[in-house]
This record gives sequence, C-alpha cells and structure tokens, in this order.
Amino acid sequence: MYVLGIESSCDETAGSVVKDGREILSNVVASSADIHLRYGGVFPELASRRQLELIEPVIEETLSKANLLPEQIDLIAVAMGPGLIGSLLVGLQFAKGLSLAWNKPWIGINHVEAHLYAAMMEAPLPLQFPALGFVLSGGHTLLLKINALGCYEQIGTTVDDAIGEAFDKVATLLNLPYPGGPHIEALAKRGKAATFNLAAGKVKKNPLNFSFSGLKTSVLYAIKGQNAKEEKCLSETDKANLAASFQEIAFQDCIEKAKLALKEFDASSIFLGGGVSNNNRLKEMFKEAFPSLPIHFPSFQLTTDNAAMIAGLGYEKMIMNKSPSPYDLEAMTRIPIA
Ligand code: KG4
Ligand code: ZN
Repeated sequence: MYVLGIESSCDETAGSVVKDGREILSNVVASSADIHLRYGGVFPELASRRQLELIEPVIEETLSKANLLPEQIDLIAVAMGPGLIGSLLVGLQFAKGLSLAWNKPWIGINHVEAHLYAAMMEAPLPLQFPALGFVLSGGHTLLLKINALGCYEQIGTTVDDAIGEAFDKVATLLNLPYPGGPHIEALAKRGKAATFNLAAGKVKKNPLNFSFSGLKTSVLYAIKGQNAKEEKCLSETDKANLAASFQEIAFQDCIEKAKLALKEFDASSIFLGGGVSNNNRLKEMFKEAFPSLPIHFPSFQLTTDNAAMIAGLGYEKMIMNKSPSPYDLEAMTRIPIA
C-alpha cells in the first residue's frame, strides 16, 4: 500500500510516500524557520501563509521523488492535530481536496502519536509491548504506557513549557538562533554540567508530570541577575557551562520520571520521539540509565516534524480500523492521545 503523508501542524510543510508503513520512498520537508528567527519562536500567521505557498510544490516533489503518479497512491494520511489551527488547516484542506480530486480515501492522524510511531517504524519486529513512550518535542512532553500500537495510557505531561520550548527559550536567552535545541546541545559539549545550581520543577499532584518554566527562569536569573534586569557579561565558558547545566538537569528530570514510571509497570522496551530525542546526550543518558531495556530513538530524519511518520501511522490505522476519515472531520488544536 502506497500512502502519501502530509504534515503541516507547526512551521514545517512536509510530504512523504511510505510503502506498507515502513519503507520510505520520499521524505520532503520545507521549513519556515528562517522567517521565525527574529521572533525566537514560531509566528503562527507567518507560518501558515508560507505553508499555503509551499504545500503544492512540496507534494509535487514528494510524488516525483517517490517516482509515483497520483493514481498509484492508495491512501492520503494527514496530521489533523494537535498544532496551530491555521497551519493544520493548510495540510488538512489540501489532503481533502486531493482525496476528492484523485478519488482516494484519506485519514486524519494525531501528530503526537505519529512522533511515537516514528521510532516504531524503524524498530525490529515484532514490537515489544508494554513499552514506555516518551514524546519530547517543541510542543509536547508526554510520558505514556504503550499497551499496543494505538493503545496508550498517558501517565505524565508538562504543566507549563514543553521541553523543546524550554530549550528554545533558553537558547534565546543565550543569544542562540531558533530553533535552539541543536545549538544548546553543541554549546553544552564545550561546558561542564554541574557548574550552575539549577533544578527542574516538581509537580506535587502527579510526580510523573513535568515543569520546566522554573528551570528556564533560573537560567534567566543566572544571565540577568535575580531582578532579571542586570546586564551581566557572561564569558563564553560561562555560557557553555550554563547550557550544559540546563541540558543535564532537564534530561536528568526525564530519566528520573522514566524510572518512576517503570516502577508502576514492567516495560519490555522504550520508544522516544520528537525533536529533542535527536539529542546525543539524551541518548547516552537513557542508555546508561536503562542498560537492560531495548531503547528505540527515531533516526534523524524522523525526529523533528516530517510526513513519513504520518504516512506510516496512516497505513497502520487503515490496516487496524479499515475505515477512512469522513470529509466533515475538522482540524483540532488539541487532541488527547489516550
Ligand atoms: O518534534 P518537533 O519538530 O516539533 C514539535 O512537534 O513540537 O521538535 C522541535 C523541537 C524544538 O524545540 C527544537 O529546539 C528541539 O525539538 N530540538 C532539540 C534538538 N533538535 C531539535 N532539542 C535538544 N537537542 C537537540 N539536538
Ligand atoms: Zn511535532
């Protein structure tokens, strides 16, 4: 089955053709990060305007790279949420339009579930469940028990900033470009982690929940003093130490919560997904913390927003449920995964 995937939930416009849920024939991603640089984060209206211009050429390129014609596509899968409403609408309406014009079924896909599927798509079969799932992205921080593909229990989430958002905000404080995660990782490599005394937030009501806004504010105070107004002049070494300390504390918090979750159930494997799961220090820390569990990270092309994960999951959903989506299914800025 050839599935055309479409992803436009944030600032990327992406298309991909995936054969039988796993074999990626093309994977095209156009980002508008350049226009958001000066804002230190995504400017929603500008993102969706750029997506309107990009969607058609991206999908044309996706088909031509896969060397397929529209009539050879069996299913169109599209991210229908969660995400920015203007951005989601571009991909969703385009997918519905293609479905009508080509007379092909379409299916709406949960973007966050697709981030989790990204690691499953490349893991050896059969997948081992129950598994611990971790989505670490710019918009989401989710800890899940995965009972089977499509069957999740959410056990933790952030009560304020998503982890990637915290990386991006700290990067802005350190005058690094957007998106900041990869720049923090690079800077942290040159620093010492335990130099600054930082702490991640604890959430009393649910110890498996996350809070990164206090950690981010501690970085602000380290740079601008307790009143956040001083113009301290941090040396390059201080900046590297601060990036390393922030990164280490954020990831230690993830490891602690994963350990806590694994006290509640016996997992056979761990699946991670989302842009932050690209980080090599995170990979190292997970492997050290859980040496006896298979840990699956998506490959680089599947970590940040892409349409291959949408097409792959679209295939699985169609095989499982055998029902395409109706045309009156709307985009949703929030959709629970479980
Ligand atoms: O999954 P994604 O593309 O977006 C959402 O669906 O939200 O993730 C983007 C996020 C950004 O916040 C970016 O800074 C972060 O992933 N990121 C990283 C790294 N690469 C991307 N964070 C830390 N280390 C990295 N190497
Ligand atoms: Zn995403």
